[in-house]
Amino acid sequence: MRKVFILTLIFVLSLVSCSYSEEVKIGSCIYRFNDAFMLRFRNAMSEESEKAGAKIDIADGQDDQSTQDAQIDDYINNGVSVLIVNPVDRMSSQAIIDKAKAANIPVVFINREPTPEMLASYEKAYYVGAKAEESGTQSGELIAEYFKAHPEADKNHDGKLQFILLRGQNGHQDMILRSRYSVQAISDAGIEPVEIAGAIANWDKLQAMTIMNAFLMSIGPENIEAVIANNDEMALGAVEALKASDYNKGDASMYIPVVGVDANASALDAMDRGEMLGTVLNDADNQGIAAVKLAVALASGGDINSIGYEITDNKYIWVPYQKVTRGEK
Ligand code: GAL
Ligand code: CA
Repeated sequence: MRKVFILTLIFVLSLVSCSYSEEVKIGSCIYRFNDAFMLRFRNAMSEESEKAGAKIDIADGQDDQSTQDAQIDDYINNGVSVLIVNPVDRMSSQAIIDKAKAANIPVVFINREPTPEMLASYEKAYYVGAKAEESGTQSGELIAEYFKAHPEADKNHDGKLQFILLRGQNGHQDMILRSRYSVQAISDAGIEPVEIAGAIANWDKLQAMTIMNAFLMSIGPENIEAVIANNDEMALGAVEALKASDYNKGDASMYIPVVGVDANASALDAMDRGEMLGTVLNDADNQGIAAVKLAVALASGGDINSIGYEITDNKYIWVPYQKVTRGEK
């Protein structure tokens, strides 16, 4: 009896030490911590790692690819079991994949998509994100729906929609595709879109505010029928500029519909106050959870097809976008 007990004890102890030594260590890199959407993403990844019993380190690339490259080298040298990378420059993903491959470490990219050729170059490279064109289409639809429901929104009565487009970062899929598909959705709704002005504001609220102030001066708010921003922070920057011109403060005759993407809390608050028309949920929670679940399965030899998220083409997990409004104004 005693012998059985001791043997059982040894067996249990060996199981414990074995699972301990196999703890999954995730090395994650974020392009820049100072980004409202990526903060939501980081929080989701940390929470999920804790639930999964995995250890996660998250490094701030400070919007500098060479800083991020050094962080990846450190992770690999320190023996992480898997990488989750939000590249600063998505075109640098190949170099990251090559390093991971040489060390035989799986790598899950998030938010900034490597090209299909890059992903194909390593069987343990994956991407978790949302389809940029979907968010573009949905934000364009929000504007088109508003324009149809509010004939007075066509300020110059020409049947066309004169809008300002605030673009994210150069070369980013979310910039290119959200811009293209938001405009496409407006024309698909039967309204001719006219971009009267546009600029790159790098996802940034302050840059967007400065740019919008300049447009308000040069174009005049009475000539602007909508503002389409590639994300909420830039939409909020535009809202600040509008408010400084006494627009979007409750007087229906002084209102310009503004849409963004992300559904960050600050944008939802602005919508509740009637300052912003709508946004599109960029589901950071599900993207963060999916990235960690995939990473843990890859690192521990688990079945990646039973983590609760569908894997497409053996490479991608796509998390859907969703339109968000606050009812009729
Ligand atoms: C987008 C998001 C932006 C910004 C960017 C960073 O998906 O909408 O707000 O976070 O990613 O790559
Ligand atoms: Ca018009």
